[in-house]
Amino acid sequence: MIQLTNLKTLKNNNNVVFLTNNVTEKHVALNKGQTSFFEKSFKKDKIQFTKTDAFTFVVNTSKQNAHDIRVHAFEVHKSLKNEKTITVCGDNTENLIAFLEGFLMSNYQFLKYFKDKKQNKLQKIQVVGPVTQAALAELQNVALSVFWARDMVNEPVSYLDAIKLAEEIKEKAEEAKNYKVEIFEQMKIQSLKMGGLLAVNQGSETPPTFTIIEYKPKNAINKKPYVLVGKGIVYDTGGLSLKPTANSMDFMKADMGGAACMAATIHAVALNKLPVHIVGLIPATDNRPGKNAYAPGDVVTMFDGTTVEVLNTDAEGRMVLADAIAYADKYNPEMIIDAATLTGAAVRAIGVRAAVFMGNAKETYFTQLEKSGQEMHDRVVRFPFWDEWKEDIKSDIADIKNLGGPYAGMITAGKFLEHFAKKNPYIHIDLSNAYLHTQENYKGKGGTGAGVRLLYQFFKNLSK
Ligand code: BES
Ligand code: ZN
Ligand code: ZN
Repeated sequence: MIQLTNLKTLKNNNNVVFLTNNVTEKHVALNKGQTSFFEKSFKKDKIQFTKTDAFTFVVNTSKQNAHDIRVHAFEVHKSLKNEKTITVCGDNTENLIAFLEGFLMSNYQFLKYFKDKKQNKLQKIQVVGPVTQAALAELQNVALSVFWARDMVNEPVSYLDAIKLAEEIKEKAEEAKNYKVEIFEQMKIQSLKMGGLLAVNQGSETPPTFTIIEYKPKNAINKKPYVLVGKGIVYDTGGLSLKPTANSMDFMKADMGGAACMAATIHAVALNKLPVHIVGLIPATDNRPGKNAYAPGDVVTMFDGTTVEVLNTDAEGRMVLADAIAYADKYNPEMIIDAATLTGAAVRAIGVRAAVFMGNAKETYFTQLEKSGQEMHDRVVRFPFWDEWKEDIKSDIADIKNLGGPYAGMITAGKFLEHFAKKNPYIHIDLSNAYLHTQENYKGKGGTGAGVRLLYQFFKNLSK
């Protein structure tokens, strides 16, 4: 991770990025030649930043929002050569934070499986401007958490199986020291009769895990906890309803993006000591067509006693999440939020540039989530959640079925899950943006860590 430090005054203008809307401003220490060069480029509307020989950048902050500035940071990052230290100089706190955030996010690499690891050279950013050391530490902690989420998504199942996922979460909590993790293993899951999780696990060689994370600071502002549930399908073959390989099964190591999102959100919240009581529940297994695999036509009795007719074993996410959402009831939650790479329908509806969300919680929670999503450019798009869709999951032989009709698959999946939330306020996030096949600026390529910055900001805004 790049180190961030405060610097009182600028020493020289080598390897400096100036953030400004006017190159003749006081804090912009350019020589005459540079000033006229940048002045000219500022007049051309299209140029967002300019580079001179000595890695001196000027990012034009006029008319730019936080996301634009993060994208400029990504562009500046791309131009790095072998610089070990750079200085970022500005006179506006929001702009500086946005730039540093975009820059940190852009520095992510997943090199574990390369023989030659070509690591980025930059080690340090010195910041000259109105940003406190505490704000820099907060940025670092969020970036670390996002990187952790990305790492978990990028790890193949050959490394990150359900047991490893649970252990990773426990290790992170031990590092942070201010939150707890408990892991339920197969026997415990059996004794609790988590039928959905056990059914999906039947075709697997690896036992399932159910991980409980709890962050409960003394100064929590909420009496009842927020319960975050994350889909931990460490690999989704589709089970007996087998997926095709290309553009489908080939990236289903990313099917624990929801689990990564929720675990990393709690990690970020805990590292930055936000005053909110949060519980995380992570049901985890792979979904495979092994010899005892659950089969289309099966009827499964879930943790809460509901019977489910399985019509497609590839709709496994809702089977494992349903048990966790029902289990959440024991915490008497203020609200349950789940995050899951749940449906292809969500991806087809809005692509990978935002997540889909819906639910029955208080309106203010929807507004707050939308607002946090805009602020962080980790966006959510609301879908309707009308009860008519419950018709689509009625079964002839059981209480409900795990497959909806031909349309609006993301909504029938949400309605299926709502059934298990009982009376508890509930929001479902379908994380269509957990994995990118092509690079998208500072959001990266491969695992994105989508949802972590969104939910971190949501809890930060709540605690204000
Ligand atoms: N993990 C997939 C959903 C998915 C697919 C997420 C592609 C991101 C990209 C999920 O388990 C699944 O297979 N869902 C099925 C449900 C269907 C059988 C009702 C789907 O969306 O096709
Ligand atoms: Zn599936
Ligand atoms: Zn899945």
